[in-house]
Amino acid sequence: MKKTLSILFISFIAFSCSVDPEIKPIITEDEIKEVVPEGWPTPIYNFSSNPLTADGFTLGRFLFYDPILSSDNTISCGSCHQQFAAFANVGHDISHGVNGLLGTRNTPAIQNVNWLPAFMHDGGINHIEVMPLGPITNPVEMNETMTNVVAKLSASGKYKQLFTKAYGDDMVNTQRIFKAIAQFMGTMYSYNSKYDKVKSGDESFTAQEQSGYTLFVQRCSSCHKEPLFSDYDYRNNGLVAYADSGRAHITGNPSDRYKFKTPSLRNIEKTAPYMHDGRFYTLDQCLNHYVSGIVSSSTLDPLLVGGISLSAQDKSDLIAFLKTLTDTKFLTDPRYSEIH
Ligand code: HEC
Ligand code: HEC
Repeated sequence: MKKTLSILFISFIAFSCSVDPEIKPIITEDEIKEVVPEGWPTPIYNFSSNPLTADGFTLGRFLFYDPILSSDNTISCGSCHQQFAAFANVGHDISHGVNGLLGTRNTPAIQNVNWLPAFMHDGGINHIEVMPLGPITNPVEMNETMTNVVAKLSASGKYKQLFTKAYGDDMVNTQRIFKAIAQFMGTMYSYNSKYDKVKSGDESFTAQEQSGYTLFVQRCSSCHKEPLFSDYDYRNNGLVAYADSGRAHITGNPSDRYKFKTPSLRNIEKTAPYMHDGRFYTLDQCLNHYVSGIVSSSTLDPLLVGGISLSAQDKSDLIAFLKTLTDTKFLTDPRYSEIH
């Protein structure tokens, strides 16, 4: 009798130790909302078929920062997409995945993605709710299978809790994983830069920023279109990188060769290195490219034939303007920060 009791007692201790502590809610429902800033176009993705909840967002946030999504449990989405860099990857021209393997392209920022008609530098992925499949299964990024991801998450007490809170039961499947990540990424809004405050009349540009803005509207904004600072079209901006055919890789159409998605310039001060191959480390180098580095080819964008002429003063004015696109609130917002 005594023996049975002590066995019961021991197994009770063993059981209680294996139960994960309850995960406290990190944000409240009203801290997480769909946003369409004034004057912006209608987003392409909204949460109508993926109702936004604090628990769904929280699950997405845990998944985004969890290396469990990679084959050797070392690389998370957040390893390459860093908040202080607007979720680009500081210091890496091209991406570094599992086993130190190198990718071929620069890690783009993640911000205002609900307005993206397509993802990746070549637009190769067209929906936010399938988007994570790319990096998870890419052999030089996370190199994992969805079957393994589902198995690993199903075996975790922590995720049993997180899935139950988000979806009412602890079933883990690909769709639930992707929808939760979409809730986290889709609410990464950047619309609180100085530029935005100037537009709303709450702040004003310095004389230099204003002159940079005027130049920007004349020379840059046909492609880097306000307010998102991209037209999200595919264009050849004269880099010519024969190793990467860009949009043509997806469409097979020779007239799309060397065209890449126009990137947003929001938070551009923080997202170096630049261009799809990370070839430039400073904004000065980017501007010099437009002035004297444009390489002619049959698909070069007509707007860039002959380059863009800018004096030294123009360049410093433009850079002063570009820095007004930095949104410190977004870059330091605790809702998006790393969590384990
Ligand atoms: C090894 C580094 C790495 C990891 C890990 C990684 N990414 Fe990326 N991410 C990239 C690179 C590089 C690209 C651009 C790929 C291309 O154009 O082919 C990219 C593109 C994206 C984009 C498209 C942005 C745009 O403007 O089109 C999103 C969104 C994104 N990643 C989210 C994620 C999520 C979610 C995860 C985790 C499931 C993840 N990434 C894991 C490097 C990484
Ligand atoms: C014809 C369209 C077009 C015009 C005009 C244009 N750009 Fe670009 N810009 C692009 C494209 C496309 C890319 C991406 C190229 C790539 O990834 O290889 C780009 C990339 C950039 C980048 C790097 C962004 C990043 O995240 O890597 C900066 C900075 C930039 N442009 C600034 C400017 C400025 C400033 C002007 C005006 C002086 C300008 N651009 C004019 C199309 C254009």
